Amino acid sequence: MSNPLRIAVVGSGIGVEHLKGYQELPELFDVKVLCDISLERALPVAEKYGIPKVAESFDEVCRRADIDVIDICTPPSFHQGQIQAALKAGKHVICEKPLLGSLAAADAVSRLANECGRQVMPIFQYRFGHGLQKLKHLVDQQLVGEAFVFNVDVAWWRDSEYYRNPWRGKRATELGGALLSQAIHAVDMVLYILGPAKSVFGWTRTRVNQIEVEDCVVITMEMADGSLGTISVTIGSLAEISRHRFTFRNVTAESNTEPYANSREPWAFTFNAAGNEKQVRDSLAQFKPGPERYAGQFDRFYQALRDGTELPVTLAAARAALEIVAATYHSSENNQPVTLPIGPDHPRYEGL
Ligand SMILES: NC(=O)c1ccc[n+]([C@@H]2O[C@H](COP(=O)([O-])OP(=O)(O)OC[C@H]3O[C@@H](n4cnc5c(N)ncnc54)[C@H](O)[C@@H]3O)[C@@H](O)[C@H]2O)c1
Repeated sequence: MSNPLRIAVVGSGIGVEHLKGYQELPELFDVKVLCDISLERALPVAEKYGIPKVAESFDEVCRRADIDVIDICTPPSFHQGQIQAALKAGKHVICEKPLLGSLAAADAVSRLANECGRQVMPIFQYRFGHGLQKLKHLVDQQLVGEAFVFNVDVAWWRDSEYYRNPWRGKRATELGGALLSQAIHAVDMVLYILGPAKSVFGWTRTRVNQIEVEDCVVITMEMADGSLGTISVTIGSLAEISRHRFTFRNVTAESNTEPYANSREPWAFTFNAAGNEKQVRDSLAQFKPGPERYAGQFDRFYQALRDGTELPVTLAAARAALEIVAATYHSSENNQPVTLPIGPDHPRYEGL
C-alpha cells in the first residue's frame, strides 16, 4: 500500500468536503486529481485546495497508474458505472450516498469487488460523531441491555431552488427522494446501533415540492432483536432538526437536534440507577474520541486498508440501508408490511 494513499476525487460539489477531509490527514492521503465534467466548476476548486491536476474524463483517471483510490462524488445515477469501471481498473473505491439504486446493483458490485480484490467504501460520515460513537461504545461493551424503542425525526428544508439542480427530484437521476437522499444517514445510524431490521411498514408522499420523488415519509420498524421504532422524514420543515432517541433497559440515549450534526455531542444519556449505572459511567469515561465526519471516516478507512480489517462502512451496511428504502417504497405502494431480507425473488430487488 502506498503511503500516503493517492486519491482522485470525482465531482466538485460535495467533493469539496472530501478534499477538506483528506487535507486534515496529510500524512495518510495525497489528492492528486480532481475530476469533473465541468472544468468551470473544478478549476477554481482545484486552485483553492492546491490539487495539482484537473481531469475532465473519468476514464483517464481510471487509466492513471499514480492513483490508488477513486472517490466518487457524482450524482447518484453515475455511481454504478463509475464504481464498476474503477474496480476493473484495479482501484479501491470510496463513493457518496446513495451508493446505488437497487439491491441487485449492490450485490453485483459486491461480487465485482471480490473478483477484483479491491475495496468499496460507501460514505456514511455521520456515523463518526462523538455522541453516536459513545452510544456505539456502550453497545459494543454490552452495557445497554435490551433495546425497547427508537424514535427518529429528520425534519429538513428543501425548496424549489434546491431542485433547480437538474438531477435532483427525478427518479431516473436522483433514484429516490427524501428517504434515499436525505434520511439515509439517519437510517444508517439506527442500523449501526441496533443491527438488522425484521419488518418495515412505511408511507411515502410528495407534498412539499413539485418533484417526482417522495418528500414526506413515515416508517415503523421491527428490528431483528425485537425492538420497535419510528422514523419520520420531511423536507418541508421551516424549523430544521434531526433527532435520534434510543431506549434500552439500562440507558436512554438522546441526540442533540442540530439538523446536520446530531451525531456529534452533546447527547443526553440517562442511566439505570437501580442497575449498572456505575459500570456505564466508568465505560463512558474510557471512551476515546477519534476524528469526526469525513476525516473520521477516511482516517478509519486508511487504518482498515493498512491492517486488512473491516472497513468503517461496508458494502453490506449500504445494502442494509438501501433495503430499508426498498421495503418502505414497496410497503407504501402496496399498503402492507414488508418482511426482510429482500432477496433476488422479491419484486423490489432489481430497483427501488
Ligand atoms: N454525504 C452527504 O452528506 C452528502 C451531501 C451532499 C451530497 N451527497 C451526495 O453526493 C453526490 C453528489 O452530490 P452534489 O450535491 O455534490 O451534486 P452536485 O450536482 O452539486 O455536484 C456534482 C458534480 O459532479 C460533476 N459530474 C456530474 N457527472 C459527472 C461525471 N460523469 N463525471 C465527473 N463529474 C461529474 C458535476 O459537474 C458536478 O460538479 C450525490 O450522490 C449526493 O447524494 C452526499
